[in-house]
This record gives sequence, structure tokens and C-alpha cells, in this order.
Amino acid sequence: MLSPESIGAAIHARRVRLPETHATPAGKRLAHRAPHAPMIFADTADYDDIKSLYEAGIITGVTTNPTLLKKAGARSWDQAKEMLTAILKLMHPMPVSLELTMLNREEMVRQAEELAALGENSVIKVPIGGYRAIDPAADPYTGLRVIHDLWERDIRVNCTLIFNSTQAFWAAMVGATYVSPFLGRLADYEYKHDHPERPAGNALYWIEDHRNAQGDQHVSNSEYVASAGARKDTGVRLIHEICAIFSNYDIQSLVLASSLRNPVQLTECLLAGADILTVPAEVLKTVPDHPLTDAGMISFNDDAQAFIK
Ligand code: E4P
Repeated sequence: MLSPESIGAAIHARRVRLPETHATPAGKRLAHRAPHAPMIFADTADYDDIKSLYEAGIITGVTTNPTLLKKAGARSWDQAKEMLTAILKLMHPMPVSLELTMLNREEMVRQAEELAALGENSVIKVPIGGYRAIDPAADPYTGLRVIHDLWERDIRVNCTLIFNSTQAFWAAMVGATYVSPFLGRLADYEYKHDHPERPAGNALYWIEDHRNAQGDQHVSNSEYVASAGARKDTGVRLIHEICAIFSNYDIQSLVLASSLRNPVQLTECLLAGADILTVPAEVLKTVPDHPLTDAGMISFNDDAQAFIK
């Protein structure tokens, strides 16, 4: 078993045993310097956003869900499938997660086969549970049974709507290729219930005793550094737990950190050892910028004018 001080080393050992995520293509002299770095997926169904992130070399996969499809303009299941087919084609051979909408085992397996046939890079998203929240008479193990059925059919599964490490563990046990803990929703929930008196947002942005002269929570470095590594975000803590459990038993299912809200959570997931981060396009767009990068660019650009005739 892992002791707290060996967790980081164990997570690293598991990562480097997994297949390279950024392999250097044959014949290339300059090797990729981050062969075991996590993959970054786009959490969106918007084709144009996906295309520009893909063409910029920023993403190596996509995750969608019914809400994202609706937001991207799908008004019927046929339209949703058309949009998914286009995304699968654009991203091929990189993985694209498509979520089931059916709720009983036989129909879910049938729908999974239908979605898997849309493209060989499809990954089927199966909710871990919640079936009784929709129909109290439903089998609570519906999701786990379907994941196992799909594993038997060699169909890759992304087990979704995970909010604790036990759910992640069982999803891996029945054959999920990916497990998706929703860290942002968990942080939002905890924050709302633990601190109803505070402004909306997740706990990560409320660092005690780190207020600036204006009395707000801005810090020049990440909140993680500002709080001396104190974990304020329950969502990120979940990623730590799952990575530690998977390392304990050398579980090969990939930890797909989901429901990210901001670039700080992105950093924290990297510190926690997530295998993949799926990030909304709006958050990915903020990644290259920082107020000091802007200031530096402006001054370099001003000085460069001296060289421009
Ligand atoms: C994961 O794959 C989901 O699509 C997603 O991350 C949900 O995030 P949300 O909480 O922003 O809806």
C-alpha cells in the first residue's frame, strides 16, 4: 500500500508504465520531450471550436454530452448523430466520447453499438449511476452492467458522472477504459453548501488571508502556490484520491479529469497526476495568457520597433 509520501512516486511509476501519449513519429530527429504527459481533450460539441483547437495542436481528443450537443445546436437525435459523425471524422484516430441517452440495459447496449459504428475512434460514455433518480424501479447497477457488456464486445467506455473514488474504482473493475470524475461540479456543490454566505464560484478561489489591497482574492501566482499547497478544492482532492487508488493496484483505466472551470484547476489536476484533462474551449482559450505575459509582450514589441524600418 502507498504511504502519503510515496503517492507522488507511485503515480509517476504508473504513468510511465502506460503507453506513451505523445510518441515521436518515426523518422523525426527532434524527439517529443513530454512522451508521458497527460492528454488534453476539448469538452465541447462545437465543431468550429474543436477544429481550431485541433489544428493548433492543443487537443488530442474530445468529450461530448447531451447538454453540450444541445448547446452546439442539435435539435434531434439524428442531428446530434450527424454532428458527432463530423467530429469523429475530424478527430480520427483520436478518441471522441459520445454519451448514451437510453436508460435500460438492452437499449443502452444497442445504442452503444449504433454510436460505436459512427467511427472507429468513438468511445461510449456510460453514466455510472443515477438510474433510480429517473425511474425508482430501475436496476441501480444498470451502468456497471452496461460497461461490462461493452467491455465484452470490445467497445471502449468512458464512465461518466463520477463524484467519488469508489465509483471510479468500480467502473474500472467492470472494464471502463476511462473514468470521468466531475471535479468542477463537486467543487461548486461543496462550496455552495459549505459557504452559502460567500459569492458564487468554487472554493479554489477563496483563499483565506490572501487578499490584496482591494480586499479581493487576486494573487499573482496560482492559488495553489498562494495557499502554500493547501487543498481547498474538494474536486481536485477527488482526482488525487483516484490517481492514488489506481496507482495502488496498477489499474490501467485512465483518469479523465472532467468539468473543469478554470486554468487553476487545470494546474491542480496536473499536480494530482490526472491521465487526461477535458477542458471547455473557453478555458483552453485563456491558457496562453497572463497579465505579466501581456505586459512583457507590449514592452518587447515597443522595443522591437527600433529594429523595424
Ligand atoms: C465530461 O466529459 C463532461 O462532458 C463535462 O466535463 C461536464 O462538465 P460540466 O460540469 O461543465 O457540465
